[in-house]
Amino acid sequence: MGTLLITQKEIGELVSMPEVIDAVERTFRGMGEGTVINPTKLHLDLGDGESGLPYRAGMNSMPAYVGWLETAGIKFIGGWEDNPGKGLPYISGMMLLVDPRDGRFLSAMDGTLVTALRTGAQTAVALKYLISEPEDPVIALYGAGAQGRTQAEAIASSFNVKEFRVFDIRQEASNVFAEEMGPKIGVPIRVVDRPEEAVEGAHAVVSVTHARDKFIRNEMIGEGVTVCPLGSFRECADELILSMDKIIVDHVGQTLHRGALKEVSESGRLKEEDLYGTIGEVVAGKKKGRENPRERILCIPIGTGAMDVAVAALAYRKAMEKGVGSEFSFI
Ligand SMILES: NC(=O)c1ccc[n+]([C@@H]2O[C@H](COP(=O)([O-])OP(=O)(O)OC[C@H]3O[C@@H](n4cnc5c(N)ncnc54)[C@H](O)[C@@H]3O)[C@@H](O)[C@H]2O)c1
Repeated sequence: MGTLLITQKEIGELVSMPEVIDAVERTFRGMGEGTVINPTKLHLDLGDGESGLPYRAGMNSMPAYVGWLETAGIKFIGGWEDNPGKGLPYISGMMLLVDPRDGRFLSAMDGTLVTALRTGAQTAVALKYLISEPEDPVIALYGAGAQGRTQAEAIASSFNVKEFRVFDIRQEASNVFAEEMGPKIGVPIRVVDRPEEAVEGAHAVVSVTHARDKFIRNEMIGEGVTVCPLGSFRECADELILSMDKIIVDHVGQTLHRGALKEVSESGRLKEEDLYGTIGEVVAGKKKGRENPRERILCIPIGTGAMDVAVAALAYRKAMEKGVGSEFSFI
């Protein structure tokens, strides 16, 4: 048997968002129960435009083993800052799946859509345990790009969302997003001019931008709000991070050195013991999620290879069942 090659288009046709959410939730539970192995991602720095290599990019290799699927794998993925200006996706990634019993490479597939799907699903799963208004929440969404789309899709498929309020530094991107995603998810999408406008009366704030300017400030976030900064750089002000009632992450090792917590952690102002726990522990019932309607909760799903392996394994199994993909032998 060779390796099954699966394209992005095929993945999109094989798996639905509710299936992805289910796979991601089971995988978080496995992380909490200890049946998932997920080492800290390894970063390859391709330069930031000011120092190092000239590519304004970085790549992560993200291996994992997911017990409930008995599958191992790795994603190799990066973000290229100049790509959107060239009409190319910011993210580029590939996945490899391995049978842990004999090392056969079961599948090689596109990792870009797998990433977007699981990134949306991981927020939707976390919010199930953390949001203060599970009935008809209002969601502020920062960043109307590729991840913004799957965030909206996954959250809309998990909650009866009253309204998404979308802010992007490029208003044109927000307008296109609203036109495209409103009919697709069947939820009103309001484009706003300022980040502050998006959070008025919102129950959750989801941020998937390239921001480095810490634009989500402490005074913007009222009681009962859950804030999920997923961007790879710095979206939240330090005072916000340091004053939240609970900080919940997907992976302790990764979140202390990447994304929202990097600066406060590396400067010693936030320590590992200041983290309340992981999404996995909450989903596995080892720790409580939201405990009262007033808590301000910061939840950071920085992204783990385990979620990618789970979604890729789901696509692979369905591809095998349906005879989708093309087999290739590397030997
Ligand atoms: N946590 C995770 O698991 C995970 C997974 C994938 C991507 N990411 C990160 O999410 C971010 C977005 O990725 P993407 O693939 O959607 O990129 P994208 O380029 O498709 O979209 C990003 C959008 O954010 C907007 N934006 C940039 N700066 C902004 C700001 N200050 N305020 C508001 N909007 C702003 C851009 O105009 C763009 O529309 C990146 O930082 C990426 O690395 C995180």
